[in-house]
Amino acid sequence: MTKDTLLLSLESDADLKQAATLLSAGKLVAIPTETVYGLAASAHDDNAIKGVFAAKNRPSDHPLILHIGQFSQLADWVIDVPASAKLLAEHCWPGPLTMIFNKAPGVSGLITGGRDTIAIRMPDKTRLRQLLSVCGPVVAPSANLHKKISPTCAQQVMDGLNGRIDAVLDGGDCHLGLESTIVDLTVLPVRILRAGPYYAEQLAAIMGENVVLPSSHDVAVAGNMPAHYQPNTPASLFTRQALEANILKRECNGPTLAIIHMSELPLVRLNNASIHSIKLSTQREKYASQLYQALSQADRMNCDEIWIEQPPYEWHEVIDRVSRACFKA
Ligand code: TXA
Ligand code: MG
Repeated sequence: MTKDTLLLSLESDADLKQAATLLSAGKLVAIPTETVYGLAASAHDDNAIKGVFAAKNRPSDHPLILHIGQFSQLADWVIDVPASAKLLAEHCWPGPLTMIFNKAPGVSGLITGGRDTIAIRMPDKTRLRQLLSVCGPVVAPSANLHKKISPTCAQQVMDGLNGRIDAVLDGGDCHLGLESTIVDLTVLPVRILRAGPYYAEQLAAIMGENVVLPSSHDVAVAGNMPAHYQPNTPASLFTRQALEANILKRECNGPTLAIIHMSELPLVRLNNASIHSIKLSTQREKYASQLYQALSQADRMNCDEIWIEQPPYEWHEVIDRVSRACFKA
């Protein structure tokens, strides 16, 4: 079934009201957050939540993040709020931190993938929080088709989900450009399940507690798949040395390439008909904010392959995304 997907503007009061009406009526609305666009549905409406899984082709056991507009909404969804969560909320909310809590009885198993815990965050966009204060909390996975690149602008949401959802609320580019850090507060030591804009050492300093990092692909979280964030064009990772060597020895009639890199490369050979350079920042946060845009841009170049220069190993959130984007079964 194809829907007419409306394009609404976050800045327009009338459009914000319409988005609230649509969500309250069980419709699916893509929303801008500071990380990536989310595909929102009312967290009180099981049918709407099922629609989110269908629109994204998402397996039903992959749990969803609840997005709240104000701290008082938290109490309805969790059994208790540990002291560590209060500290983190004080410092990091609204913002790119998702916390895992023990869920309150009665929370729909559709949201939690049948588990006893629930993931919750308060996004950092004032007008979005106004919307959530009016229509109540929403579930919002990233607004991409399953396994694909997360959208950081309204056009990218449209490219993937036009005709499958009811509306896109355009709030411009997402300034962080990478999904929230997910931290599990139901275990000791506290554990990061997905690296993101808040780093382990920052959370540890706020809580005064040890925080364990995720171990590459073996965390038992549904949705934590080795192949994720994947462009349509096959992508591969190379060290800087391997990238330079491969560019130099490349045959003239070899595959056309989009190269995502941060080092200066032998530019004479780049940006000709068959090699396109996408140069990203050497600064960690900036690089993270540019990565998904770069993957989408590389895809639109319709090259045969995407080559990505290996970023520094200590950039955990970036390494996580690029390794999954390049994973081959
Ligand atoms: O920045 C973000 O977090 C974005 C924006 C839209 O807010 N949302 C997002 O949602 O990235 P999604 O669905 O693409 O990723 C949610 C991740 C999944 O890997 C899922 O497995 C995990 O959160 N998750 C959700 N509930 C969980 C739970 N109870 N226990 C462990 N992991 C959970
Ligand atoms: Mg996602």
